[in-house]
Amino acid sequence: MSEQDPNRWLEPAATKVRDPVTNRSVFLAGLIGNASIEGNTLRFDLNFSKDHSRADRSAIVQALESNLQGVGWQGNVIPNVLVEGVRRGSAAPKPAADHGHDHGHDHGHGPKEDKVRGMSGPGMQAHGGAVELQAIPGVKHVIAVASGKGGVGKSTVAVNLAVGLAAQGYLVGLLDADIYGPSLPLMMSVDGKPVANEQKKIIPLMAYGVKCMSIGFLADPGEPIIWRGPMVMGVIRQFLQQVAWAPVDYLIVDLPPGTGDAQLTMIQNVPISGSVIVTTPQEVALLDARRGVQMFRKLDVPVLGVVENMAWMDAPDGTRMHPFGEGGGKRMAREFEVEVLAEVPLDAAIRMGGDRGSPAALDTDAVATVFRSLATKVAEALPVS
Ligand SMILES: Nc1ncnc2c1ncn2[C@@H]1O[C@H](COP(=O)(O)OP(=O)(O)OP(=O)(O)O)[C@@H](O)[C@H]1O
Ligand SMILES: [Mg+2]
Repeated sequence: MSEQDPNRWLEPAATKVRDPVTNRSVFLAGLIGNASIEGNTLRFDLNFSKDHSRADRSAIVQALESNLQGVGWQGNVIPNVLVEGVRRGSAAPKPAADHGHDHGHDHGHGPKEDKVRGMSGPGMQAHGGAVELQAIPGVKHVIAVASGKGGVGKSTVAVNLAVGLAAQGYLVGLLDADIYGPSLPLMMSVDGKPVANEQKKIIPLMAYGVKCMSIGFLADPGEPIIWRGPMVMGVIRQFLQQVAWAPVDYLIVDLPPGTGDAQLTMIQNVPISGSVIVTTPQEVALLDARRGVQMFRKLDVPVLGVVENMAWMDAPDGTRMHPFGEGGGKRMAREFEVEVLAEVPLDAAIRMGGDRGSPAALDTDAVATVFRSLATKVAEALPVS
């Protein structure tokens, strides 16, 4: 089938979405009509009956959009929603990556009610997620590095964990999920425009033996990224599913601070093997880190443990100081019954390593040892066999 044939995209995308009214696939149920491709815009009618609730319609549209992206359609998608032949909703052009929708509709089509196995498709989950968890082919473990508060050293920990794992011989990917403030290009000293392979997947850039992907590779440097939440979610979904990660043992994801769109998109789209929570010892950071732990727990993502960053500082005369307080990470770990995976000192070499794009884990000094031992603990917690 030619790439200009709309069925080349719609058939595989719609076959995987269940129509709850007929209990057949949306494709076989004949809901799709009048499909056409003009330029990079795919248009089609969705012929719903009165028996389709608003939630059904919204879930089907959302699932189709997501699946179209999944089968490699990269242009705009304009579904024309008809109910008994009468047009509903606007058909304003929407970029393919923009699949954000209101998740507030009812969720009456969870897996338990899905009589057609394997056809529930994205958009039909009981928990309200936009799409069902979809493992990334060829990626053994996805690890989220998160914090509540900003600037506590997530990116530093993510980068050094990735480099530390690669140094131990694992196949590692590093995804910068901070769309508004990407730091991977600087910290890994890597830049360039990634290209697509024959399967139309983006080939990540390599740095220190780690496959890297960041919005910073695609956006103009210095240009502020002003996007709505749904666009951020679309980009993160693409970074998870449309990047040629495989084969990878550990895909480390550097999340932006907080518990927002990026975090939810991750959690609702891919199975995360574990999360690493980064905090400084100070109360205000711990408070936010607790929220992070609670979010992951609530959404069934295992918390591997806590990294206490900037735990102490050694003065040139050997005096040890605790500018951000002492023992906060340990207290938090006890509270949540998780491990302290590492205590990282406040050290100029770490900051310089970040700024120079030469991660501290590459060195041979004491600080490098801390990051290497973090990598070992993570690998032990999530063996790849
Ligand atoms: N242990 C450390 N010692 C010295 N400097 C550090 C340490 N950890 C992080 N930094 C520095 O602190 C700054 C913030 O760190 P980083 O960017 O990793 O934080 P972040 O939590 O990812 O921030 P954001 O919330 O903005 O994403 C960076 O300049 C980094 O080099
Ligand atoms: Mg960061």
